[in-house]
Amino acid sequence: MRSLVLLHLFLLQVPLTRAHWEDYKYGHQGSELHKKSCCSWKCILFTLQWPGGFCQSLNKEIPCRIPESIKTWTIHGLWPLHAQHCCNCWPMFHSDIEDLEAELYEHWPSLITTKSSFHFWRDEWNKHGVCAACVEGMNSPPRYFQNCLKLQRQFDIRKLLEEANITPSCERPYKFGEVHSVLAPHLGNKLEIQCVKDTRDREVWFQLKIPLSQNLTVSCNHYIDTEADYRLGQNIYSGHPCPPGVPFYYFPINHQQPKQPCG
Ligand SMILES: *[C@@H]1O[C@H](CO)[C@@H](O)[C@H](O)[C@H]1NC(C)=O
Repeated sequence: MRSLVLLHLFLLQVPLTRAHWEDYKYGHQGSELHKKSCCSWKCILFTLQWPGGFCQSLNKEIPCRIPESIKTWTIHGLWPLHAQHCCNCWPMFHSDIEDLEAELYEHWPSLITTKSSFHFWRDEWNKHGVCAACVEGMNSPPRYFQNCLKLQRQFDIRKLLEEANITPSCERPYKFGEVHSVLAPHLGNKLEIQCVKDTRDREVWFQLKIPLSQNLTVSCNHYIDTEADYRLGQNIYSGHPCPPGVPFYYFPINHQQPKQPCG
């Protein structure tokens, strides 16, 4: 009797499972209408975070940790402009990124203690990746994440800055124009340098947004609405474009005291 019930359940399950599987396989993007608005993006923001400032961008109650191995800029995400949460149709599983996991831990760790790195990656995929997936080279979780890792290798921000003598420091603030003119030839004129105010009212650099075209080159010529765009992810992070008239700090990474790197 019991096995009959099980068999019956099994038979019922099969068609359902298959229908879902086909949707996922082809990256089903929802209704045509939805597809239009979600796939019409022209630019995509590659966002890197500086661990020396990132923890200060989090609300007070959110605990932060920087793994010992992290010594440079890490990935926050790759965000199509004005397109988010395009569909709930393409869930990501651990097995999707198994082959990339070691690299992702190194270059895209969650610095929020209460959020696992896998949850971080999966949230980024659900919110932004499913919209990026309109483009052929990014139309699956592994392709999306691979592209991000490749971009991070391509833009060695720390080195670019070091070559111009801009190094992490507790004492020395940097002028906006100085930093912008070092990065702009490599990242395009529309790059966005993001700051947060620390408890002592200083501007602290914590994030960098690099606008790219669909083909992931630095050639996005479309208008970027900074207001709308920096509200992305504004629920747990604070932050704003660094004001051009105020020198800002590029603090060192302090693994022991991530929220107060300079005491
Ligand atoms: C990438 O896209 C931009 C904007 O559409 C275009 O101007 C540029 O030629 C493309 N670059 C390559 C290498 O395809």
